[in-house]
Amino acid sequence: MRRATGLQVELPVAGRIVLVVGGGPQALGKIALLRGSDAEVTVIAPAAIASIADLAARGLVRWHRRELIENDLDECWLVVAATGDPASDAAVTERAAARQRFCLPGSGGVPVRSAMPPGGSRLGGRVVLVGGGPGDPGLITVSGLTAIRAADVVVHDRLAPLAVLDQVRAGTEIIDVSKIPGRATTPQYEINRLLVDHARAGRIVVRLKGGDNFVFGRGGEEWQACEQAGIEVQLVPGVSSALAVPALAGIPLTHRTANQGFTVITGHVPPGDPRSMLDYAALARSRTALVIMMGVANLAAIAAALLAGGLDPQTPAATIADGSLPGQRLVKAPLVEIGAATGAAGIRPPAITVIGSVAAFDPAATS
Ligand SMILES: C[S@@+](CC[C@H](N)C(=O)[O-])C[C@H]1O[C@@H](n2cnc3c(N)ncnc32)[C@H](O)[C@@H]1O
Repeated sequence: MRRATGLQVELPVAGRIVLVVGGGPQALGKIALLRGSDAEVTVIAPAAIASIADLAARGLVRWHRRELIENDLDECWLVVAATGDPASDAAVTERAAARQRFCLPGSGGVPVRSAMPPGGSRLGGRVVLVGGGPGDPGLITVSGLTAIRAADVVVHDRLAPLAVLDQVRAGTEIIDVSKIPGRATTPQYEINRLLVDHARAGRIVVRLKGGDNFVFGRGGEEWQACEQAGIEVQLVPGVSSALAVPALAGIPLTHRTANQGFTVITGHVPPGDPRSMLDYAALARSRTALVIMMGVANLAAIAAALLAGGLDPQTPAATIADGSLPGQRLVKAPLVEIGAATGAAGIRPPAITVIGSVAAFDPAATS
């Protein structure tokens, strides 16, 4: 049988002075957690790591650069012993007890608090727009996962991290509204209607998408539909595949010696198409790395438009398919060949193409 070791409680630290004794990494996690709970944090340490010194310099915590004195204990509501040395922590705990101050140990993991309300506290029907990251279930945020665990209904797309659907509560309804190229899809007005109807019925509806809902994800439209229907909307940003997929393929989108920015575009309509809003000549001149999403079918035409706009034919380029997923693939070629190379490799969506010198990044090279 498991022995009870104490009572788990949430301490109401907001607005109260909490003393953190210690200036090392053990203290930093506690300080961040306490600040997130709106405590007035005072750090007591003769020296501190850079992040703590920075918080103090920005006025976000008070820092007394010295050892603990008895006056400190008189002024505080709670003490955290986080020196990193068990004997010193024990001494702090003893001194706090002598002054009748409750003292928490600094050892152990720091619980990561989610920005989402916990599952038990029902605020009524609402829609939570959750960005799920590029597909690997490990790349959803803590808040995203919390929302999924609290959901009554999850409305998801095919590029969402599908493995996290395993985490829903018993009885949660899962609705697949994937838009698969070349197949019958659920129209957007129908998705909007589903979100609104379920929320109106008092349910917590998670709209789970791949990446971030506001990056080519129609999150803005879904928010507007909910707003017009008087439905509360909460937002949980996700890690966009525009950033994560190049990173996982070893491509830093910016590099101090290579560029001063990156541009993310959709390639789902070809250059010259009346629906295209993009100025490819301007993109060719931008000197930023280009990240092309939804561009597999039009990649050769896009590359041709960039070449016509004056981009060097030998500019490095890379296409990454199924980033973060078990079948992740990478094709590298100069701009002039990237369309043909991507096609020859049989790359299919979802894929992202990066154009710019960063596509040839070599971690072993010196910058
Ligand atoms: C409709 S957009 C949605 C983008 C998403 N909201 C985001 O922030 O990542 C779909 C496109 O995102 C890119 N994409 C999404 N997930 C991907 C992945 N795991 N690997 C490669 N590309 C991906 C592809 O270009 C795909 O065609």
